[in-house]
Amino acid sequence: MSTAAARHQELFGTAPEGAWAAPGRANLIGEHTDYNDGFVMPLALPHNTTVTASRRDDRMLRVHSRDIPGPTVEFPLDELTPHMVESWAAYPAGVAWVLQGAGHRLDGADLYFESNVPTGAGLSSSAALEVATALALSDLNGLGLTPDDLARHSQRAENDFVGMPCGILDQMASAACTAGHVLYLDTRDLSRRQIPFDMAAEGLRLLVVDTQVKHAHADGAYAQRRAECEAGAAALDVPALRDIPHAELDAALARVEDPVIRRRVKHVVTEDHRVEQVIALLDAGRARDIGPVLTAGHASLRDDFEISCAELDLVVDTANAAGALGSRMTGGGFGGSAIVLVEADATETVGKAVTAAFAAEEYVPPRIFEAIPSAGARRVSLPA
Ligand code: GLA
Repeated sequence: MSTAAARHQELFGTAPEGAWAAPGRANLIGEHTDYNDGFVMPLALPHNTTVTASRRDDRMLRVHSRDIPGPTVEFPLDELTPHMVESWAAYPAGVAWVLQGAGHRLDGADLYFESNVPTGAGLSSSAALEVATALALSDLNGLGLTPDDLARHSQRAENDFVGMPCGILDQMASAACTAGHVLYLDTRDLSRRQIPFDMAAEGLRLLVVDTQVKHAHADGAYAQRRAECEAGAAALDVPALRDIPHAELDAALARVEDPVIRRRVKHVVTEDHRVEQVIALLDAGRARDIGPVLTAGHASLRDDFEISCAELDLVVDTANAAGALGSRMTGGGFGGSAIVLVEADATETVGKAVTAAFAAEEYVPPRIFEAIPSAGARRVSLPA
């Protein structure tokens, strides 16, 4: 029996009926565009949250995490209410609440989680937890949820139960990415294309640099950016900033009075354009040339959206100066991770330069690993 299955048995007194996994993600380009109905381009990381699950014949949901110290948390399925839980358990509880609210009848369940997705690193550990839960509950209860359903329900859990007003980037990445591809997603209607992304075949590497600076979106800065974007769309009389064509950006900016809102609009419209540039380059087999587009994206997030931090800027500046093709922060911002595109043979030089620059500033050492585009959410054999 796998250790996860043995632990499940030990915790809940019954063997799991199966195991399900959902990954974290890095976003190649398209940041803070999702809640503006725009474009994103994530890839799933090889890091997953795995859940073993079994049904119960009462209406209790019991959840336990290997990675977060604390006892098993229990909820009666019929008494779930938004904001009732503050801990990690709010994510699986929120998913159960949303599924029931959507009219699905759930059996009680015991869920045991193991995760190697770094937390607070801007790599979507929350989405991995939500989507793994949604897929496990879908299979246990025969709901037949599609990747779109998994993502939408998971996003709603985070918005309405946990209280974080995120877009759908992270949940769609976790639910719908496939190995060897980046996902080109239109967040307005969830139409998408899987774009082959084999950096090794190009002699390149995409690195993730986790600055270890813990981001905290819930502090209100994320919600504030979202509100500023909505104010921008209202000022320009469009449903969402995605509806401002890049060719009309200057005219649109001239119509926005508030300088802060103007900068937010500029970021979103140029970022959607950068997604299109990256797609065109990848479609043309010019992977190397996306580097400068990534770096331009970082400058926009730093100067116009104002969500970078000293550590992220140091990664980008140092990596680029040491020969990287391009770099940018990835995810929500205010800390977390950056991505760096390098020639394969420059991987070590660039990594060492970033690590040395962090040491010189007396920052906590960064964690650097390769972003290998991996599978989205799926049923797995019980982990060994
Ligand atoms: C966080 C949110 C996403 C998205 C990104 C920024 O990861 O959860 O919905 O807005 O930030 O692109």
